Amino acid sequence: MAFEEKIEVIESIECHVGQFIDEKMLDPKDSWQPSDFLPDFSDINFVDKVKALQQSISNVPDSVLVSLVGNMITEEALPSYQTFFNLLKGINEERNVANTRSWVRWSRLWTAEENRHGDLLNEYLYLSGRVDMSAVEKSIQRLLYNGIDLQTMGDPYHGFIYTSFQERATKISHVNTGKLAYKSGDTALAKICNIIAGEEAVHEKAYKFFMGKIFESDPNGGLSAFVAMMKKKIVMPASLMDFGTKKKQYLNYANVTQKIGIYTSHDYASIIDHLVKFWGIDKLRNLSDEGNRAQDFLLTLADRYYKLAERIQDPTEIQFVWLKKA
Ligand SMILES: [Fe+2]
Ligand SMILES: [Fe+2]
Repeated sequence: MAFEEKIEVIESIECHVGQFIDEKMLDPKDSWQPSDFLPDFSDINFVDKVKALQQSISNVPDSVLVSLVGNMITEEALPSYQTFFNLLKGINEERNVANTRSWVRWSRLWTAEENRHGDLLNEYLYLSGRVDMSAVEKSIQRLLYNGIDLQTMGDPYHGFIYTSFQERATKISHVNTGKLAYKSGDTALAKICNIIAGEEAVHEKAYKFFMGKIFESDPNGGLSAFVAMMKKKIVMPASLMDFGTKKKQYLNYANVTQKIGIYTSHDYASIIDHLVKFWGIDKLRNLSDEGNRAQDFLLTLADRYYKLAERIQDPTEIQFVWLKKA
């Protein structure tokens, strides 16, 4: 389908975006803020509260901390996400970020929520005293400078396949980090991870819903976008943090999340599995030849990734980047 027709589809489902915002999204005035979860500097007991925070995070393993830092850096790259989203064709043809159109409003609501995730994790990690904040801040700056290339080529269908996948991946990552924090005795951190994961779940729901509407209007186009993104593989947005450097911070982070089960190749397969089932790919009928081929490809894809995940050896050597040397 030509881009012009895709833009028509995007415009035709805009009413559903507005409805999702009105029914499912919190108004920013009612939303939690990072400071709700952090010691207050003006509190006379501030020092004791920070000591208590440091005490409870002290048993969280380095590996969990590295993965938390990686999650946080991913969140902190959010200016790139708002840019990415508004550059998708059909989303913001007026080129006005303050536009009241539902798609543009969605882009702001979504990224304004993400902004709090980065802030909260950043401040918590700063207070923990265990993180080399300067190294972390350099990674954030470099990642923002490098930008993100989610390989969606400005195509909104590709964009929503990407974000459906990525929001689910992010949710899994925060949930699993929370479980490990809880196991290590940091219940406050576990709660923070769960609160963030809850919002990722709403973002995932939104993108799957938007993409579902595309499948209803243009099943062949939706299938072809799904296949295209799966063939390119979903790259994590933080993967460009190493670009142009000799450092391998992203690789170390990815190795750690694989090794300790925060986000693994099995999760990658399970997300494909979930999305194929959620969008009822097996039930799509009256497809073009290309659509039929895409459907066949997608219906066996998760199994292929599950098998691959079984064969993947966990990395033996992992480096704990971003942490203060003991
Ligand atoms: Fe987030
Ligand atoms: Fe999100």
